[in-house]
Amino acid sequence: MTPGRETSDLVLQATGLTKRYGHVVAMDGTDFELSRGEILAVVGDNGAGKSSLIKALTGAISPDSGEVFLDGREVRFRSPLDARLAGIETVYQELAVATELDIAQNLFLGRELRKRGVLGDVFRQLDKAGMRRQAAEHMKNLGIRVQSIRQKVETLSGGQRQAVAVARAAAWGRKVIILDEPTAALGVRETKQVLDLILKVRDQGLSVVLISHNMPNVFEIADRIHVHRLGRRVAIVEPRTTSMSDVVAIMTGALKPDDMRSAVLARS
Ligand SMILES: Nc1ncnc2c1ncn2[C@@H]1O[C@H](COP(=O)(O)OP(=O)(O)OP(=O)(O)O)[C@@H](O)[C@H]1O
Ligand SMILES: [Mg+2]
Repeated sequence: MTPGRETSDLVLQATGLTKRYGHVVAMDGTDFELSRGEILAVVGDNGAGKSSLIKALTGAISPDSGEVFLDGREVRFRSPLDARLAGIETVYQELAVATELDIAQNLFLGRELRKRGVLGDVFRQLDKAGMRRQAAEHMKNLGIRVQSIRQKVETLSGGQRQAVAVARAAAWGRKVIILDEPTAALGVRETKQVLDLILKVRDQGLSVVLISHNMPNVFEIADRIHVHRLGRRVAIVEPRTTSMSDVVAIMTGALKPDDMRSAVLARS
């Protein structure tokens, strides 16, 4: 743990997470710490175990061992829905948008608004107009341009689909937003919009986890950088005091974090 960092500053934490698939070790006793109100970037080579870590934190996979804590209390999410109900919104690397539904329906998926009904909750009709109105307003506030909120997501470009997924997370996240490669398919303008959105979300007091291979993006917006290698966290660095080339060297094993004064060595 970073010196001086109180446990109560941590919104999401994990210790000793492991996960094996046969002979493949996806997580090898990794730790994780996300502070309140920070943007934490998670970087690492392909196959280092970043997505597995995120999935274990959010109930998409169950780790073989290790613990996860939200606000200092141990949690065992059995599904991503469990994590969402607890205030953690995730955009997984394999995008979870329902392509046959339109943009508004995607934004409200699983949380549909219903009209006030006289027959009780069971028979209440969907408030489609209300959802479309709110969805349009939300997309506009985020600066995401789409022709129509009623456009089916399967007709959107890859970048636009990604924007819808990020918009949904930003709309509903109460504590933590986790984005696994949110700008991978985006052009320059859309990437900037997503980065601006991440900063906006952080400034509203939420905590953000950003997995990205784009080092300039990471260095532009992250408060801290968690470096992952061979299934575990090997260092936490601050972009202000560390160079991009040093981070890449830690990722690839060319530089040991204990050779650097600015890197906080993860507990092993
Ligand atoms: N369901 C699975 N079955 C078998 N092996 C898996 C499974 N999920 C992940 N792995 C393996 O675990 C390791 C870590 O994968 P993971 O997807 O977490 O890496 P990553 O850091 O997210 O990589 P990338 O940067 O390419 O997205 C890889 O070797 C991968 O092949
Ligand atoms: Mg991944």
